[in-house]
Amino acid sequence: MASNPLSRRDFLKLAGLGAGATILSACGIIPASPSAPAADVTFSTPGITPSPTSPALIVDLTAARTTVPILSGAETPVWRYQASVRDGAAESLQVLDGSYLGPIFRVKRGQRIQVKLKNELPDPTIIHWHGLHIPEEMDGHPRYAIAPGKTFDYDFTVLNRAGMYWFHPHPHQLTGQQAYFGLAGLFIVSDDEENALGLPSGEYDLPLVIQDRMFDAANRMVYMVNGMMDQMTGFLGDTILVNGKPDTILDVKASAYRLRLLNGSNSRIYKLAWQDDTPLMVIATDGGLLEAPVTRDYVMLAPGERIELWVDFSAHQDAKLVSLAFESGSAGGMMGGGMMGGGSTLPNGVPLDILRVRVGEKGEPVSSLPQRLSSIARHRMEDAVNSKNPRSFTLAMQGMIHTINGRVFEMDAVANDEIVRLGDLEFWEFVNLEGGAGGGMGMMNMEMPHPMHMHGVQFQVVERRIDRNFRTQYEQVSTGFVDEGWKDTVLVMPGESVKVLVRFEDFAGTYLYHCHNLEHEDAGMMRNYRVES
Ligand code: C2O
Ligand code: CU
Ligand code: CU
Repeated sequence: MASNPLSRRDFLKLAGLGAGATILSACGIIPASPSAPAADVTFSTPGITPSPTSPALIVDLTAARTTVPILSGAETPVWRYQASVRDGAAESLQVLDGSYLGPIFRVKRGQRIQVKLKNELPDPTIIHWHGLHIPEEMDGHPRYAIAPGKTFDYDFTVLNRAGMYWFHPHPHQLTGQQAYFGLAGLFIVSDDEENALGLPSGEYDLPLVIQDRMFDAANRMVYMVNGMMDQMTGFLGDTILVNGKPDTILDVKASAYRLRLLNGSNSRIYKLAWQDDTPLMVIATDGGLLEAPVTRDYVMLAPGERIELWVDFSAHQDAKLVSLAFESGSAGGMMGGGMMGGGSTLPNGVPLDILRVRVGEKGEPVSSLPQRLSSIARHRMEDAVNSKNPRSFTLAMQGMIHTINGRVFEMDAVANDEIVRLGDLEFWEFVNLEGGAGGGMGMMNMEMPHPMHMHGVQFQVVERRIDRNFRTQYEQVSTGFVDEGWKDTVLVMPGESVKVLVRFEDFAGTYLYHCHNLEHEDAGMMRNYRVES
């Protein structure tokens, strides 16, 4: 049986052909814990009361193998979330026709959600709700992974403000593989504050998931073809897909649109711009609307990050969204050319076409973009319990593995410096020492950007600092960061230190923080943190 996406057995067979065998076969045993019971908790966040008059949205969601048409010719075997509404409004789920991507949840803040996950994959799986502030039992930690044939019942209330969140698998050392073969979906939350703005909606609200993939001659997706090298740099595909399709052309009306972008790639980072140099009008980041729109000549979008654009196509003929060239770090230094030159034909940082926009007939009259979008309560440094003394997380290479404070993932371990108190505002700092003096060792001293993600929270970026030796390459990306809003994933460039303020509210428990380069994550660049009450 040679069908792709690969079963775990096939995958190991393939991986065994390359240098990746050592690392990959080390992941041979996957613990599958029995399905955990739904959390029996009630909780309250000021202003958000689950309305007893609006019953739960109940969704049956199956992770299974299927095939979809992607390229011309044979259909592509994929792994896919298929869902249906068991109880609740049918329009709460939007399906992208013919795509491997899962359904788009469209829900309101305060809505109670019950998702009945059924695992029809050949491997263990579990869903993580990226960006959502929910109890740890619902968060999809790998220790909750369910075996093939099993089910997991999610039950949580949406406390997050309006924004575009998403969901994807999180089983131990299989996240990259499962997401790559198709398992991912969007989770869009609306609220009253946002509705009052009259932003483009309905057909004028377009979620766009950007991913890169690699296909073989039979149209099957291939993964980790360069073994250990892919594990170190992250796997890069050579075909750009938007909502699961190549060569995307968006047919739009001459009107204003809300484009919601997710970088759903395993490791590729994009430097997005309109090809004709029109500045991008950014209205939202990971955790929803900014206070006011900001413009950028380009925006950086790392794996896991979201950004939302407002764009008036009535002012354009056609448009093209591209990714501009930048120095990604990993291509430089000792890793360039030479023995490590066997990576993707399309390394990070090369120019790419993302999608073309074709403007057609006149659409709804364009109402101007409000200059005030939302209010964001700014965390203040003096309110942090450790304002003088950031909790510092150093990203560095040890041997061939990217580590966090010298550690790699352990299923249950939480170190002393990974324990926080419920209710506290904390000052955290991610320091990327890779490629710098003292970071890493010998030829494995790779310069890698790391998109750092925290589960269960949204944070605010308060400062970025760059080592002067990295300034030149940094300046090719740094004016494309949008740090004005709520974030759950932040790109930390080589030589950079990023400081954030984060409050741990409502839920005690063990959550994850990790690099959202999924190959880095699966190789161990992930840790638990524990919120103690
Ligand atoms: Cu989207 Cu643990 O990640
Ligand atoms: Cu997450
Ligand atoms: Cu990383």
